[in-house]
Amino acid sequence: MKRPARWPPSDPGDLGAGVAFGAREGTFRCVGEATSYAVERRRSRRNLLGGGSEGGQSPPPRRHPVITIDGPAGAGKSTVSRELARRLGYRRLDTGAMYRAVALSVAAAGVAPDDEPALRAHLDGLTLETDGSRLWINGREVTGEIRTQEIGELTSRLTTLKPVRDTVTPIQRRLAAAGGVVLEGRDTGTVVCPDAEMKFYLDASLDIRARRRHAELTRGGVSMTLDAVRKEIETRDEQDMTRAIAPLRRPADAIVVDATDLTVNEVVERMLEAVERRRCCTRS
Ligand code: DC
Repeated sequence: MKRPARWPPSDPGDLGAGVAFGAREGTFRCVGEATSYAVERRRSRRNLLGGGSEGGQSPPPRRHPVITIDGPAGAGKSTVSRELARRLGYRRLDTGAMYRAVALSVAAAGVAPDDEPALRAHLDGLTLETDGSRLWINGREVTGEIRTQEIGELTSRLTTLKPVRDTVTPIQRRLAAAGGVVLEGRDTGTVVCPDAEMKFYLDASLDIRARRRHAELTRGGVSMTLDAVRKEIETRDEQDMTRAIAPLRRPADAIVVDATDLTVNEVVERMLEAVERRRCCTRS
């Protein structure tokens, strides 16, 4: 399949966000705009610490906001973020998919997650490309392969490790920097984009999340009992919420949407109303 070649896309709604980067120092690169990864990392650190742009001034306001959606496994973040991005004509960034792609490459290379020097060396040699919906690792498309049980488990383990987060987080910030983007994940409103203009925390009861995930797996031809799915989601929640680095937390300034009794469309409508309210409030 042909890879995208533009960043940013001329029409932000087409998800044609072609971007390529190497994790090695100095090789971070957006198509059409060379940017040093080391410089990017310094900028990101400043943002994290709450600092402004160079010279202590605030960064110029973005034309389009950054919207983050965090929440536990199975709450419906993927479907909701895809639809919200489509309705707003924004790009979408599935941060979990990026971690899954890294996990796939780690598994394929036979690197042990706890062998830190080997893991760092592996991450240094990695090239990841995304167009907002598809992913390539070192030029090979991995969009479908990352959605397996094994890769999900390995991803959960790898995302607790500093070298992995140190590699992926700055890239996600870079992809979000221009605005007009919906990020979904576990730490997008707390760590990746703490300065996002709109933050949502999408939650749902464990029972409903398990039922939805079970139905999804069954549709995909995966046979698993509802109980096993519930257990797996519970374990994933526990890991995501208790890890030392970038744990899943509700950002203090997030709007909480409980999707337990809502359809996808109702969730998206609520989010769109909140986006519209904010637009009205910030219009001068
Ligand atoms: O959303 P998902 O199931 O594709 O995410 C896979 C794993 O990655 C899951 O264990 C949570 C983790 N993750 C993370 O630690 N930080 C993110 N921003 C996104 C996902």
